[in-house]
Amino acid sequence: MNIAVFASGNGSNFQSLYEATQSGQLKATIKLVVCNKPEAYVIERAKACGIPCFVCSPKDFPDKAAYEQAILNELQANSIDFLVLAGYMRLVGPTLLQPYKNRIVNIHPSLLPAFPGMDAIGQAFDAGVKVIGITVHFVDEGMDTGPIIDQQAIRVNEEDTRETVEARIHEIEHTFYPQVLNKLFQQLVVK
Ligand code: GRF
Repeated sequence: MNIAVFASGNGSNFQSLYEATQSGQLKATIKLVVCNKPEAYVIERAKACGIPCFVCSPKDFPDKAAYEQAILNELQANSIDFLVLAGYMRLVGPTLLQPYKNRIVNIHPSLLPAFPGMDAIGQAFDAGVKVIGITVHFVDEGMDTGPIIDQQAIRVNEEDTRETVEARIHEIEHTFYPQVLNKLFQQLVVK
């Protein structure tokens, strides 16, 4: 399975996915990182891992379709089978959704359908919920709305602050995402 990881920022999930491919826990090859922000730290991470990074800024294109077409060309040139979004802060449009139907997934730091969109951890913390979590889901044209693949719940304790909750979510994401993807890829290969 040749995958491309899409990211816009820090890239800690890219890093953990890469390490999981190296250790054999995730049976897939990350052939490409796609990043829409030229200043994102994930670009450094990709370089350090020896993974090519396609940096592509939407503002350099007349519209979203042209932006996504440039990405699609790069994906096809690299024989990418599957798209893994990890902190990619843009909605995916039909130019990518159609050729990769049921082959785009995302990780979101809440128990969807609760708290979609930006700053999900902050939203959940401010709402005072006592169980937060992580969702891995297929991507459709909506904001964190595609079919859910798996979820992991995490308890919020009395002594937790927003920062401790955030740190715990990120730590769990780093093992949960590779596990869920590995299971999913095995099912796809078997089918
Ligand atoms: C993660 O919390 C992920 O769930 C969300 O964006 C964050 C990305 O973090 N979609 P990183 O860039 O992988 O460190």
